[in-house]
Amino acid sequence: MIGDKKVLFSGMQATGNLTLGNYLGALKNWIDLADEYECFYSVVDLHSITIRQDPAELRRRARSLLTLYIAAGLDPEKNCIYYQSHVSGHAELAWILNCFTYMGELNRMTQFKDKAAKHADNINAGLYTYPVLMAADILLYQADVVPVGKDQLQHLEITRDIAQRFNNIYGDVFTIPEAYVGKVGAKIMSLQDPSKKMSKSDENPNGSIYLMDDPDTIIRKFKRAVTDSEACVRYSEEQPGIRNLIDIYCVCTGKTPAEVEKEFDGKGYGDFKLAVGEAVVSVLKPIHSRFDELTKDKAYIDSIIKKNAEKAEYYALKTLRKVQKKVGFPERIR
Ligand code: TYM
Repeated sequence: MIGDKKVLFSGMQATGNLTLGNYLGALKNWIDLADEYECFYSVVDLHSITIRQDPAELRRRARSLLTLYIAAGLDPEKNCIYYQSHVSGHAELAWILNCFTYMGELNRMTQFKDKAAKHADNINAGLYTYPVLMAADILLYQADVVPVGKDQLQHLEITRDIAQRFNNIYGDVFTIPEAYVGKVGAKIMSLQDPSKKMSKSDENPNGSIYLMDDPDTIIRKFKRAVTDSEACVRYSEEQPGIRNLIDIYCVCTGKTPAEVEKEFDGKGYGDFKLAVGEAVVSVLKPIHSRFDELTKDKAYIDSIIKKNAEKAEYYALKTLRKVQKKVGFPERIR
């Protein structure tokens, strides 16, 4: 708790271009929950270097992502929006937690297996212990709730296991966090292959809607979305392409799948795809203009970066010092 509020932590990687999946599966929920919790939203740049990055590009993307958090509707005066690399406590706690995590547990992580297969020439130790750093992110702020998409649930489970193990040895040090997954939109699929999640690293750009795509591109990508030959807008497992489009439309409009089925009863896929594209454009358009405005205001963004890093550091250190004492590190004299 901070004051009378529970704590929320979440983060995104500044790797690749953010997709509609990132927005609908995570960022949108962050905004919906922001008033209820004391929130920490990190640009997790330490995680990003588990895959080789161009330094200038990483810096540029990290700043854009931080700006996008604000453009999407998170108030940086109320929410702590900061770079993970500006708070050294993340890496320090991750080291300690590494010593409380079993290789057997890490071997089971599906994201590690996927990424290792994709980057066979660079299977580094950071990629392997990635979930431990994520646990450190969350536990450092004693987070109660962590809004994520479905693909991160396994990492939340390991975080809870590590925290519980630590607490069993040292007493109640960490809050045990709960994942928050939205009812719709928790797993947005590729528009070109609805059996695969929409991903920043998809080689086929038509599979993903990027948050910075212009309206024409968005509409074009939806028009090309893979569907089926049923010719019926129905929310069913047998029509994964249409189901995914209904999910997207529902999160953008607040409608339920049943309402959408009714709305498009007797209409063709062409009409439906266009409506989904337009709904997405109307959600993203205000974010684009706010993003453009904010990007021009360098001094403002700089001041947010500084102020929020200090705030994050204050809370991070509170937990870190407690943990260091518990495990037996000597007291700091200075
Ligand atoms: P990342 O950067 O891959 O994704 C950011 C968030 O977007 C969600 N997401 C999706 N949701 C629905 N449909 C999709 N197709 C889709 N693709 C991505 C992810 O679930 C995530 O919530 N390891 C994390 C970042 C992280 C983090 C943390 C998150 C680091 N430390 C602590 C929460 C708490 C990651 O790589 O997310």
